[in-house]
Amino acid sequence: MKDDDRPLQIRAEEEYRTQFENKTLAPFYVQWIATHKCNFKCPHCGTAADEAKPDELTTEQILNVIDQLAEMGTKVLSLTGGEAILRPDFPEVMQRCKERGIMTGFVTNGFAIKENRKMIEEAEPFSVMVSLDGYRDNHDKIRGTKGAYAKAMEALDIFTEMELPVVATATVYMEENVDEIPLIYDDCVAHGSMRHRIQTIVPEGRAVGMKNDPVIMKKVFKYVYEMKQKGHNIEVCEGHGYLGPLDGVIRPPFFCGCGWNTFTIMADGEVMGCPALEFPELYSEGNVKEVPIADMWWKGFTRFRETLFDDVPQDCKDCDVLDLCRGACWLQRVNGDYCFIDTAREVAKELGL
Ligand SMILES: C[S@@+](CC[C@H](N)C(=O)[O-])C[C@H]1O[C@@H](n2cnc3c(N)ncnc32)[C@H](O)[C@@H]1O
Ligand code: SF4
Ligand code: SF4
Repeated sequence: MKDDDRPLQIRAEEEYRTQFENKTLAPFYVQWIATHKCNFKCPHCGTAADEAKPDELTTEQILNVIDQLAEMGTKVLSLTGGEAILRPDFPEVMQRCKERGIMTGFVTNGFAIKENRKMIEEAEPFSVMVSLDGYRDNHDKIRGTKGAYAKAMEALDIFTEMELPVVATATVYMEENVDEIPLIYDDCVAHGSMRHRIQTIVPEGRAVGMKNDPVIMKKVFKYVYEMKQKGHNIEVCEGHGYLGPLDGVIRPPFFCGCGWNTFTIMADGEVMGCPALEFPELYSEGNVKEVPIADMWWKGFTRFRETLFDDVPQDCKDCDVLDLCRGACWLQRVNGDYCFIDTAREVAKELGL
């Protein structure tokens, strides 16, 4: 067979489109914002987590969702929030996933892990991601909770002892922590983290108005490039969109799988390509309380599958890499700050790439 040397993005879209036409397309990875309840109130929280919302999915509703996802071919359900482990039905949800052959993962601030150790062990998650947004006292300051850093490290130790297949860490970078990322990385690795994800800020929830200066972003791109050259398992997140010469270098090639292999279920049951929290009325595909998920999957998501290039801003329509970038990370785009290719090109030039 002739080698296909077209870029991954083009091949992936073609493959998923064929699967869609053949009715074999499956939402492989589904994210669930399990609750808005949180034991922290981070000032930069994109979910604006605080108390649980009154209309969050009931146990019966989420168990039914899991059954539907299993029928549709979902292989991974990732729980985030808020703090997903604060849902009293966390064990039941994880158990149902296990019974239905769906692997689970969750994202946590790490603060309530020790007291929930047994429950998490029994749930047998496949992966966990612990968030670290500063080194030691600065993490506590950024996250607004004294002792948060020590607890996050303790959580990493516990997950490592549990021998979970994937123990990862994540940092939202900003001016206040950018120079500490190497210290955070070293400490996380010493406590068992296998992978570090460096996230750009999404300006929604309590983070509305926050954004990173290109100078900060350049520092991060250079640091991640140098670390990857040395073989470390660290990468920037897909929220940066297509990164030109750094794409596939400081992160796997950019491809937004929303509506192709993934979607997000919001705490109240709204289904969105990805969690554009501020705009459910514009971007929801329907609510699991009212619509079977398979109906949404086969009849909805057209904004991702058909009209993508019509929807993008004029700058993107005129762009020479639109076929690779496809208008960047959708979540960043709907929140207004999405094109970082000039920064990536400058860094690549400075690095001599
Ligand atoms: C919303 S939190 C929920 C899980 C858990 N409470 C935690 O903090 O890890 C999920 C991830 O999103 C990150 N995050 C929070 N606010 C963000 C924002 N405005 N932009 C980008 N990432 C953000 C967190 O650091 C965490 O890694
Ligand atoms: S970022 Fe996580 S820990 Fe912080 S308030 Fe939001 S949900 Fe809670
Ligand atoms: S202009 Fe649009 S399509 Fe081009 S790189 Fe920027 S975000 Fe991507």
